[in-house]
Amino acid sequence: MPTQKKSINKNEISFDGKKPIILLIHGFPFDHKMYESVSSKIASVCDVIAPDLVGFGNQENSKDQTTIRTMTDFADQIEMILQYLGVQRPIFLCGLSMGGYISMEFVRHYSSRLAGLILCDTKTIPDSAEAASNRLKLADSISSEKLPAIADQMISNLLCEETFAKSPQVVDFLRKMILRQPINGIAAASRGMAKRVDTTDLLRTITVPVLLICGDQDALSPPESMIALKESIATQNPSTSIEFVSIPNCGHLPPLEQPDLFAQTIIDFVKKTTLAS
Ligand code: MLT
Repeated sequence: MPTQKKSINKNEISFDGKKPIILLIHGFPFDHKMYESVSSKIASVCDVIAPDLVGFGNQENSKDQTTIRTMTDFADQIEMILQYLGVQRPIFLCGLSMGGYISMEFVRHYSSRLAGLILCDTKTIPDSAEAASNRLKLADSISSEKLPAIADQMISNLLCEETFAKSPQVVDFLRKMILRQPINGIAAASRGMAKRVDTTDLLRTITVPVLLICGDQDALSPPESMIALKESIATQNPSTSIEFVSIPNCGHLPPLEQPDLFAQTIIDFVKKTTLAS
């Protein structure tokens, strides 16, 4: 197959037909740059596609402040990107937190696309009534003036203590990334997350190898909940190969807090899965 070149988010992506393809779905309220420092490492073994979800980063945003973007809407966007890029081979799909919620909807609608699934710092259960109501309040009240305070409040739960103490550049990068997101995009995804359904039952339909990654100090999707996810997959689908990796000294965002370990964990998984197939 000749090398194909296409561009997404102004980044050129080459497909030589030889390397495995990995698509990285960012979390909330971020953009594809959350994978910036790991993409170049993972690119040693994979063609990497790291898009901005609609409403975030460079993607066009709705003028309507009441838009709802469900996890299925985002999964459909991922499928459209793959069609646009002409990707036909099965891909590795990696989603972090909201990216994981979207990955599970991708499993529901497009599972034949997958060669492997990587879920990072995420969960399959929906919001409690209180959490959903808080998301709707955020969506209704967010404004450019309020965004800095919202960002600071979010960041306090996203990173571990060691990151705050030793990596001020990571805190700064994260804050700037949140502050550049369009408020209508944040509101639309917030409403979509509030509506999200339980995807735990879908775990039994997964037939490709699964890698679960979690920061050992993740306060939002703690390691215990991801270990329970592993056990749930192992019980519901004993023939599926499943691995859990805890990333040390890390909160909710391994690609930012421990990029080398995060990238290497993915590289090892892709290599192992590709060799086994
Ligand atoms: C994320 O990192 O994507 C968020 O923590 C997801 C959420 O708010 O549930």
